[in-house]
Amino acid sequence: MGKFCKCNGRLLCMCLLPFMMTGHLLVYILVTIFVTISYAPPKIPVHFIAPGSSSNSAKMASHPLNAFWNLRLIDSALWNSLQHGCDRLYNPILRGNASMAVQQTKIKLDPSSVGCVSNCIPEIGSHTVANELKAMSDQMRAFVSSMRCREYPYIINQPGLCYNNETLDTPLLLMAIKSQMGNFENRQAIRDTWGRSGHVSGEYNIRGGLVRTVFLLGKQDSNPKSNFHDLLQKESEKYGDILQWDFKDTFFNLTLKDVLFWRWFKQYCPKAIFVFKGDDDVFVRTDALVDFLNKQWEEHNLWQAYTNETDKGLDLFIGEVIYNAKPNRDPSTKYFIPGSFYQGVYPAYAGGGGVVYSGSLALRLKEISDKVSLFPIDDVYLGMCLSKLGVVPSHHPGFLTFDLPITQRGNPCAYKSVLLVHRRSPREMVALWNHLRNLRMRCFR
Ligand SMILES: *[C@@H]1O[C@H](CO)[C@@H](O)[C@H](O)[C@H]1NC(C)=O
Ligand SMILES: *[C@@H]1O[C@H](CO)[C@@H](O)[C@H](O)[C@H]1NC(C)=O
Ligand SMILES: *[C@@H]1O[C@H](CO)[C@@H](O)[C@H](O)[C@H]1NC(C)=O
Ligand SMILES: *[C@@H]1O[C@H](CO)[C@@H](O)[C@H](O)[C@H]1NC(C)=O
Repeated sequence: MGKFCKCNGRLLCMCLLPFMMTGHLLVYILVTIFVTISYAPPKIPVHFIAPGSSSNSAKMASHPLNAFWNLRLIDSALWNSLQHGCDRLYNPILRGNASMAVQQTKIKLDPSSVGCVSNCIPEIGSHTVANELKAMSDQMRAFVSSMRCREYPYIINQPGLCYNNETLDTPLLLMAIKSQMGNFENRQAIRDTWGRSGHVSGEYNIRGGLVRTVFLLGKQDSNPKSNFHDLLQKESEKYGDILQWDFKDTFFNLTLKDVLFWRWFKQYCPKAIFVFKGDDDVFVRTDALVDFLNKQWEEHNLWQAYTNETDKGLDLFIGEVIYNAKPNRDPSTKYFIPGSFYQGVYPAYAGGGGVVYSGSLALRLKEISDKVSLFPIDDVYLGMCLSKLGVVPSHHPGFLTFDLPITQRGNPCAYKSVLLVHRRSPREMVALWNHLRNLRMRCFR
């Protein structure tokens, strides 16, 4: 045997070699085919986890089951019923049957309380939906009992904020910042840093633009020791940037600040080109924002000149957009919305740390908001109004309502593409402001 192998080794090799090579080729082809077939595209990281629950998976925002506006009456949820009546009231085709629609609902509403007719008498809370209300949380109950009222007088107004020697100014950017009576430090830090009123140069473009800042406040029960009211009055006299309305400043009443601000805007500052709306615990890179807005405005003007459309306003809305969120059904969270109040998905909306929209859109939002029933979460309400206008909010990666990664926060260059970060304390705002000076010189080479 040994001998046979020895003398036939060469022969064997010569015979086997083609088979082996063909075999290798086959294996190669098979592997190639297999790899091609089993190739999976890279997973796209899911960034936006809405602060609501999601039934599909804890990690991903859920998919919408249907469109946001629904012609069908969802009669088991209060907001949907009211909105249904409201849609009918304002829809020229369906008009006239608004009260009929409300009569059909399971939740017994007063037929006169159709849709969004403003009515400040809290009759919903007193008897008509009493049973539904009993099961709701305190803040939900408080909201429902006043949700048809949007008439609140000014305690402090600033009629002259956008006037200069009797003529209406056209600020490039009006910053409307939601604040609370007690947040004196936040307001001061904002005035000293990113919210400074006056001409602001851009980061690259020296041209910059005029910025005006105003703070939006409700009313808080202050204890007699800290006399917030007098302090606020003094603050307003000194800086002339406080707007205060006579309603209770609670989380579920924040929507009122948007609605009432739009009214103020229309009356006192309608020529502002852009509006920033945000909270008093964010940090904004105003110079970079001013550059961005100047560019948008120039492009819009060029486009207008090119198309001869002189009366078409700019529809710009940017922020950190959250898609396909569902209402939060966890009663222990502050975003909790019970099923008896709202059914359905939320429209695309932007996280509330801060958003920017055009002044012409602010005027349209003011009009449309009269036709959208108030909703307790202000960001979602804004999304609802946009959806009703047919305006899609644009996502901008510079808006970080969920902040930078923790390791990056101390690194100034990490902020170079940031327009807004949430959240920063007054002290951090001032530190960051000084830290980010001359960012361009240091990081943009
Ligand atoms: C409105 O209601 C009336 C009767 O109440 C009915 O005849 C009419 O068809 C309804 N219109 C619409 C558009 O549903
Ligand atoms: C304000 O306007 C009046 C008349 O319109 C004018 O006489 C005056 O010079 C203006 N003042 C300033 C500071 O521009
Ligand atoms: C909102 O403000 C009104 C007026 O002050 C008040 O009656 C209502 O209870 C407040 N709503 C909430 C949810 O706190
Ligand atoms: C815009 O108007 C000018 C003059 O009025 C005209 O010559 C031009 O053709 C118009 N352009 C368009 C796109 O309509």
